[in-house]
Amino acid sequence: MTDLAKTGDQPDRPADADRTRRTDRAEEPARGGDEPFGTPAAIEARGVERRFGRGRRQVHALSDVDLTVAAGEFVSLIGPSGCGKSTLLRLVADLDTVSEGTITVFGKPARQARLDQDYGIAFQQAGLLPWRTVAANVELPLRLHGASGSERKARVAELLELVGLGDFAKSRPDQLSGGMQQRVAIARALAERPRLLLMDEPFGALDEITRERMQTELVRICRETSAAVLFVTHSIPEAVFLSDRVVVMSPRPGRIVDVVEVPGSVRERTDDVRDQPDFLHSVHRVRTALHGRDDDATAVRAGGAEEGGRS
Ligand SMILES: Nc1ncnc2c1ncn2[C@@H]1O[C@H](COP(=O)(O)OP(=O)(O)OP(=O)(O)O)[C@@H](O)[C@H]1O
Ligand SMILES: [Mg+2]
Repeated sequence: MTDLAKTGDQPDRPADADRTRRTDRAEEPARGGDEPFGTPAAIEARGVERRFGRGRRQVHALSDVDLTVAAGEFVSLIGPSGCGKSTLLRLVADLDTVSEGTITVFGKPARQARLDQDYGIAFQQAGLLPWRTVAANVELPLRLHGASGSERKARVAELLELVGLGDFAKSRPDQLSGGMQQRVAIARALAERPRLLLMDEPFGALDEITRERMQTELVRICRETSAAVLFVTHSIPEAVFLSDRVVVMSPRPGRIVDVVEVPGSVRERTDDVRDQPDFLHSVHRVRTALHGRDDDATAVRAGGAEEGGRS
């Protein structure tokens, strides 16, 4: 049960990097992993390499990625554009295959997890079918997998309630705001009660106010579903607010360079933590890991505002 960030020693890292762990979490068996009697980890990636193409045109997208996401844990991936975040998510989702290494999802090969519908996926664009109503969009995966009419109806009603869209079942996607469409996409991803959600910048296209509201919604949804989440974002405050741990990646080839643990359980997080010193400290830790320097002055002065407020 390890998250290895293989960057070698970093002697200039501040001694108070207490919440920044690059290595083994074996001292925390209660949080899942591969222990014989526990729940298997939601995701175990070991020595993952992904190269695209051959010869001089080869792109080395991911290098030596080791990552564990425990059952029920919320982990964000953050890193510069092109560092392989989407590639890693696609590998977990079995939409792509590793060049080297292994990925298991709840102890199974990624392919088997896909066949077993162990995870739901939500991307930056909600990807709804415009000619179908909200209810029919959410219902689609249930219909494809043979749920009965009454099961579908009950589940859709429950899901729309969960994402706060109970009154919009009969609306069409173009009658909804961007945030509402994204909530429909999340409801659809949750339709089959996945134990894992894979989310690639799901709030990237939203304005800042909606985005914050969606983050709070997602925390509530996670509390109610206890699904594990692997969440890709470019926003440091978003990553910190949503996560148990933030995994920081280097520019291509993407490697894990740091893992920042955020204090307190994400499932109990409320909006007011955004202004608290612990939160700002974690934001600072992630920023430092991303930029490879410890510019305390910038972080303290900005207090998180330099990411564009709390986006
Ligand atoms: N199917 C593919 N064929 C060739 N190269 C690819 C393919 N998919 C991704 N890449 C390359 O792999 C690298 C990582 O891409 P990826 O989309 O994973 O980055 P990312 O971290 O998600 O970036 P962003 O933050 O901009 O979304 C990029 O250089 C990209 O061009
Ligand atoms: Mg991407």
